Amino acid sequence: ARFVDMKALILAGGAGTRLRPITHTSAKQLVPVANKPILFYGIEAMVSAGITEIGVIVGDTRAEVMSALGDGSQWGAKITFIPQDEPLGLAHCVLIASDFLGNDDFVMYLGDNLLEQDLGAFVHAFESARLSSEPPTAQILLKKVPDPHRFGIAELDAAGNVIRLVEKPANPPTDLALVGVYLFDRTINDAVRAIAPSPRGELEITDAIQWLVDQGKIVRQELLTGWWIDTGKLTPLLEANRLLLEVIEPRVDGDVDEASSLDGRVVIEAGAVVRNSTLRGPLVIGKDARIIDSFIGPFTAIGNGCEVVNSEVEHSVIMERSRIIDITRLEDSLIGREAEVIRSQKRPRALRLMVGDHCQIDTE
Ligand code: G1P
Repeated sequence: ARFVDMKALILAGGAGTRLRPITHTSAKQLVPVANKPILFYGIEAMVSAGITEIGVIVGDTRAEVMSALGDGSQWGAKITFIPQDEPLGLAHCVLIASDFLGNDDFVMYLGDNLLEQDLGAFVHAFESARLSSEPPTAQILLKKVPDPHRFGIAELDAAGNVIRLVEKPANPPTDLALVGVYLFDRTINDAVRAIAPSPRGELEITDAIQWLVDQGKIVRQELLTGWWIDTGKLTPLLEANRLLLEVIEPRVDGDVDEASSLDGRVVIEAGAVVRNSTLRGPLVIGKDARIIDSFIGPFTAIGNGCEVVNSEVEHSVIMERSRIIDITRLEDSLIGREAEVIRSQKRPRALRLMVGDHCQIDTE
């Protein structure tokens, strides 16, 4: 039984500048990995940890995020949307969520983080520690990383107590990064009011937790064993897609003809049609997609309603209703919704492109 009402605060306000041009027209939190929007994994992680009262911070992309999540009933959850007008930092999100949070303990989850590990045990450990004689006011999750200057970093003493936290230090004292999942009691509400903006002009949650340490509060830490990916850029996004596809349960609900062959972990959703093609998993083909005279290689997610004709695609995410025609071959790519990548057969050497701002095209 729970001794407190635990809530979740999921942060989905970020602009996603590093995934342009996709994020010029749509929310980064809704980019799919293994054909499911990134943000849905966070909601599901909270619900499976037993938390159903969920606040979601939304920014410029609020309309799209709100319509994708609805009231949360599709997960058996109750979602409250909290608008953030300017990206003023993670601690600012706690500040504007104070009405929603009240005096309850909560999990703060960064919406673009993906974790392999179930969070139930992490939440449970905090709840038990809160009943002990020295209850923590916060709990952080740490992971050793090769590039600590890109994250919030924790320093521990020999006994494993958290003694210092720094946001993206130029000379990191350790390689223990703060994963985007935090547990707090209500003391954090005082912390976010006490701190000043960082050099990047944001109220940093890292500084708020440091404030707790400075006040002599106990901050528990746990080391994450499974993988963890901050999906904000193309390479980690494709990596998350790969890791999630690696454990997908094979299933064929679509229509595959005799001239096609399937190999490895392959999911073909209902209404999808595969003709004269080779599919080498792990991969997923979305609902009503058409794969004709093509090769789909490992770690590829083809979205609902896509069409791939006479092409080879591997290690890529193709979003809904896009068309890939006569392309040999497409690799390590992220293609937005309703896009067309087509090679003109009349002029095979000439490219006809309509390219958005900040696109990168490699025609080698
Ligand atoms: C934020 C936090 C950082 C944390 C990271 C995890 O960084 O400020 O401490 O390590 O998330 O993804 P940001 O993504 O805002 O640069």
